[in-house]
Amino acid sequence: MGLTILLASAFLFLAYLSYAPPLHPNAPPFTSDKNLLIGSYGFFTKRWSFFKDSREHSKTGQFSFWLGKNHVVGITGEKARRGFLENRNLDFVSGAPLHGVGPESVPPIHDIYVAPAQGHSYFQRRVLDIMQPEYLTKRLPLVTKDACDYFSSMRKNSSGMINPIGVCYRLVLQQSSRVMCADDIAEAPVLLDSYVNWTTLLLHVSSGHTMCTPWLPSIQHMKRMYGRWGMKRLVTPIVEKRTSAGAHHGEDALQMMVDKGDSKDYMITFFINALFISVAHSGKLAGAVLNMLANHTDWQDTIYGEIQATANKYATNKDLPLDEQLNSFSLEAWESLSSFIEILFKEVLRLHIIFPMVRQNVGSSPVPISGTKYVIPVGSFAAYNTGDAHFDEKLYPNPQTLNPLRFAKEHDKSKKETYAFLGWGNGRHRCVGQRWAKLQQNIIIAYALAMYQWSACDANGQSVGPSDHKTDFDKHSNKLPQGIFLKHVPR
Ligand code: HEM
Repeated sequence: MGLTILLASAFLFLAYLSYAPPLHPNAPPFTSDKNLLIGSYGFFTKRWSFFKDSREHSKTGQFSFWLGKNHVVGITGEKARRGFLENRNLDFVSGAPLHGVGPESVPPIHDIYVAPAQGHSYFQRRVLDIMQPEYLTKRLPLVTKDACDYFSSMRKNSSGMINPIGVCYRLVLQQSSRVMCADDIAEAPVLLDSYVNWTTLLLHVSSGHTMCTPWLPSIQHMKRMYGRWGMKRLVTPIVEKRTSAGAHHGEDALQMMVDKGDSKDYMITFFINALFISVAHSGKLAGAVLNMLANHTDWQDTIYGEIQATANKYATNKDLPLDEQLNSFSLEAWESLSSFIEILFKEVLRLHIIFPMVRQNVGSSPVPISGTKYVIPVGSFAAYNTGDAHFDEKLYPNPQTLNPLRFAKEHDKSKKETYAFLGWGNGRHRCVGQRWAKLQQNIIIAYALAMYQWSACDANGQSVGPSDHKTDFDKHSNKLPQGIFLKHVPR
């Protein structure tokens, strides 16, 4: 009897797993890269190759796949990309569970992400408030001092070498906590350590695969929830303290929100996520860019020359050493620091931002895929991997090679197609935090180069020849690179 019930239950469970709801007849044909019951697990484990191979094996470049019981449409090509990035029914926030990264495991979607039909969500509005020149100008003296102190303290380092990823990661977090949240974290080493530890944990876990197997407990998913718990534990007392009677008045984002009368729940949820987002890319990239400059001393010299020229234009006392002249830079000076950093950063993002953008069709009718006979059915997800544009030979010749000069005006082929550069996203969901991310990058590189000349070395401090750090585009891209060391010689 017991065995019969067991077998019947197993049969019913298998029948449930293998049942696929009927699809719209114009959904694109299925990719061959699929597994029984769970679907195309390669979407998570071979991120770029899965997309590239499915594109190549499909007749039209558009293809379908299952992630468990979720139907997903893979989109490729210029016209389809444009439709994907512009269509109002393709919802950004509902697509988030497929990424499976960061502290927020949705659903349920918190109110702070819900945007009215016209206008911005609470989350977008507050990030846009933070990007206002008046606010960033107020924060400048503190975030430049953070960078200045970090690089000055290296003068005491007798080995003359650092791991740039670790060092820059902590600096990025210190500055980002001042801009995105509160000075309390930046000024208390114990809180900053805690911020470093929780975000490092969150950066190294992803649990999008639970979309294929929601019935299977996942350690990765539990780690994400643990990471969110840790971030909440970090920010809640800071919010409680600032909103208590007689609390000191700050000049940071928390104060701006308290003054606007925002609810504690909204502020805490905003901080948990903004603190993570603002380091997920920049925390890794600041050290990686310094490493690139150490490997390309000609680029280093070009940027150093441009920083000197900006100092000649904007610094208040031109007799001071260059790093001290930086302390008097206005927001305008920082934002026009160096045209070479601008194209280098764009090129770094072209190679770093290789990921599947995801949306869900939340409308009441199928969304046609522009330029094809296919549709994204109601309720289905759509995924566009940015590698489709960023590795396109027509737009970016020798796409695997790091070459900032490809974005110089005279060589730039990326303008040949609409939305061919996606380093900051594009269309309806362009990154709203890019102003701070660029400013932060400029500040870190400027102090690093104004104080030192950089060169690549191994773990023992022995010089090594130029070698660009290679990224595995199939792995989850947020992991911090390992085994990178740099020598720094004071100027
Ligand atoms: C180097 C740093 C950064 C990079 C490379 C970056 C990249 C991106 C990309 C590629 C997207 C589009 C995603 C998509 O379409 O699926 C995006 C959107 C977004 N980013 Fe960033 N980002 C950075 C920093 C930041 C910061 C500091 C914030 C502030 C919290 C931020 C907030 C956002 C938000 C809120 C969106 C969604 C906008 C919307 O809903 O329309 N980002 N970002």
